[in-house]
This record gives sequence, structure tokens and C-alpha cells, in this order.
Amino acid sequence: MAAVRKFFVGGNFKMNGSQDIIRSIVKEINDAKLDGKTEVVVAPPAIYLLAIKDTLLPPAEAAAQNCFTESSGAFTGEISPNQLKDADIHWVILGHSERRSMFGDTDKFVSEKTKAAIAAGLKVIACVGESLEEREKGVTNQVVERQLNAVASVLSEDDWKHVVVAYEPVWAIGTGKVASPQQAQDVHSDLRAWLGKRVSPAVADATRIIYGGSVNGKNCDELAKEKDIDGFLVGGASLKPEFIDICRAHK
Ligand code: PGA
Repeated sequence: MAAVRKFFVGGNFKMNGSQDIIRSIVKEINDAKLDGKTEVVVAPPAIYLLAIKDTLLPPAEAAAQNCFTESSGAFTGEISPNQLKDADIHWVILGHSERRSMFGDTDKFVSEKTKAAIAAGLKVIACVGESLEEREKGVTNQVVERQLNAVASVLSEDDWKHVVVAYEPVWAIGTGKVASPQQAQDVHSDLRAWLGKRVSPAVADATRIIYGGSVNGKNCDELAKEKDIDGFLVGGASLKPEFIDICRAHK
């Protein structure tokens, strides 16, 4: 029997927000009284994680935007997976394209972080996605499979229950240029088929594959209808009231 994949929406604030802004977003989410049919996480800059964790009501919860590989030590500026766990933060985004392009997160580094995060008991939103140049060259599937293969190489089959895959084409992130539902569905279905071969049919069936890249309150409903789109990772619109509409996109 096919697994029921619970719809998943993540808000990635990136390096945006202030105490006031965070407080008002938390209030909006809490006031929306989300019904729990969709799993919702919000990822603020690290300095606001505890404030969010302490004030956001279930079913929404806090997520980190990144973590390191080691559990403690002389790594100035980093946060360990164990520290996130200790602080009751259960989710972390890893391999976001901004980390890959600006902060040296290679496939291997992302895989090491993923392994450390899962070992510490965290759940991971693992991001993959091709650049515009790669899409135009027709190598989208090879790129996302290569990125996900690095993650697959460090996980056991059982570990996959702690992973959500985020497909985020780099050309759609922060550009207002959203992938069409068909473009996103094509890559999601490729990734699911790839997971079936590389890991197992059960993992392919159960793993949420979410889409990210200029998702907003207007385009989310059409995207959510696609059979392999199991939710969204939302940047810009996660700081706006329309985030609530996106959290309700799954009908
Ligand atoms: P965007 O960002 O929604 O602003 O395009 C998405 C992301 O980077 O996760």
C-alpha cells in the first residue's frame, strides 16, 4: 500500500528578521490555528531559534538553517547538531544553495553534516537543485541525483524517515521566477524514481520531496496539486502573511 506522505511546509527566514518581526510572525502563525494536517517548521536566524521554540505553538515548530559536523570544540561561529538537540530544536536545513554557493558547502560537506545531524537525533531538510546553466545544458537530473547521492551514501535505509528532500532550482530562488508545476513535478518524480533504485521502493514512497523557489500565496495551490510535490520550502514569502495560505495549500 502506498505511504501517506504528510504535507510539509518550511519557512526559511534566511538572514532576515528582528525580535519584533519574529514576534509578529509567530503571532500570525499561532493565531492561524493550523490544523496539523500539514507539518510546519520555521527556520529563523540562529539567534532567534530559542525565542521561536518557546513561543510557537504546535503543530508548528522551529528549525535551524544550518549546523556543523562536530558535536563540540574549537569551531568559532558554528552550532553543533548536539546543541540543537539539547535546545529542543528538532529540524535543520542542510545544503541550501546559498550555503553551497557562498559558504563552501560541497556535496561531501553536506553529506557529513547530514550524517552528524541524523546521528544526533535531528531531522534534516536536505536541499538539492540545479543552476540555470545546468538546466539549460539539460543536466538537471544528473545534478540533483549527484547531490542526493552524496547524502544517500552516508544514510542507512532507516535514516530516511528523518529526511525531507527539498528540490530548489537555484534559478527560482529569490528571483520571482517559479518553476512551473510540470517542471517541478518532473524533477520530483525523477528524484522519487532515483530513490527507489538507489535506496528502496519503500523509502521512495515515504520520503517527502518538497519544492522551493519563489513559492508564494498565489502559486502554491497549483504546485500542491502535483502528485510528487509534498510541500514547500519558502523563503521570501515566509516572512509575509501569505505564509499561512501556503501552509494551507494542501487540500
Ligand atoms: P524564495 O527562497 O522562496 O525566496 O525563492 C526559497 C529558499 O531559498 O528556500
